[in-house]
Amino acid sequence: MTSSLKDRLDAAAAITETRLAAALGDAALPGERLRPERLMGAMRHGALGGGKRLRPFLVIEGAALFGLTAEAAVTAATAIECVHCYSLVHDDLPAMDDDDLRRGRPTVHKAYDEATAILAGDGLLTLAFDLLAGEDAHPDPAVRIALVRALARAAGIGGMVGGQMLDLAAEGRFSGGTPLAHGEDAIRDLQAMKTGALLAVSAEAGALLGGADAGQRAALLAYGRALGAAFQIADDILDVEGTAEEVGKKVGKDAAAGKATLVSRLGLPEARRLLDRLVAEAADALAPFGARGQILAEAARFVAARRS
Ligand code: IPE
Ligand code: IPE
Ligand code: MG
Ligand code: MG
Ligand code: MG
Repeated sequence: MTSSLKDRLDAAAAITETRLAAALGDAALPGERLRPERLMGAMRHGALGGGKRLRPFLVIEGAALFGLTAEAAVTAATAIECVHCYSLVHDDLPAMDDDDLRRGRPTVHKAYDEATAILAGDGLLTLAFDLLAGEDAHPDPAVRIALVRALARAAGIGGMVGGQMLDLAAEGRFSGGTPLAHGEDAIRDLQAMKTGALLAVSAEAGALLGGADAGQRAALLAYGRALGAAFQIADDILDVEGTAEEVGKKVGKDAAAGKATLVSRLGLPEARRLLDRLVAEAADALAPFGARGQILAEAARFVAARRS
């Protein structure tokens, strides 16, 4: 990773952390009665002090293509990160992937309990839309509504939630325990939904915030989709090849659970070739932005080569 990419990832992470911490304060906001201490502790555990903050980086750098400051993009970036953190808290629940380690720390249901983890996830999901509705997300209400709609579609039935449903079904848990035999296309659909949709909407949000024209918005969306597909393949490769110390979560769990992944379907060498093709596709999608798209192209290469 070049130092400029690292600096910009660090900068996006820092400004997002500050915004998240402010949103997760103890003081009740207008319309709220009080904020329960245990719920806030669990939400902070699930959202603060960890993670690559890749989605906020995509929002902030996407918006920067149109001249927006990080400050102008950080509320929308934080909203998407809230949805991501909620998805992780719920993904780790015993009823889902049943994981004890996340971002190098005990998962929320381990540090607290299952009911609290469910509620912490619910709280983070709801908070995302609270943030997007506020004026500091964008001065134009029409843009805020477009962000709300895009995030809801990416996070919901035909996006992350739907993808998680397909992911669990593919394990065979609803059909007698035998993993379902999926072809490459079905796995790509599943992954585009569970992971790709939130990464794609992050890049698209930069375009929405920046007042992009239809072509620029489509270009960022295409970039985000390719990056999202690459991201999950890299995650699946790390589950096979990484160590828990590197990735901050248990490894070897996909094979153990009978997950449908492109690594299990295609084998490692072919999955790696597909990963390379997707990184090239992501970079190509940025053509309309010329040299200004370089940092995002580099982020796609980073996603493929990452060890954590
Ligand atoms: C992990 O996402 C879950 C997947 C979508 C594969 P990240 O690898 O972005 O997790 P953090 O936010 O950096 O912990
Ligand atoms: C998670 O995919 C996708 C989400 C919507 C959270 P994984 O189940 O592979 O993510 P990890 O490996 O637990 O981070
Ligand atoms: Mg999962
Ligand atoms: Mg998981
Ligand atoms: Mg995984």
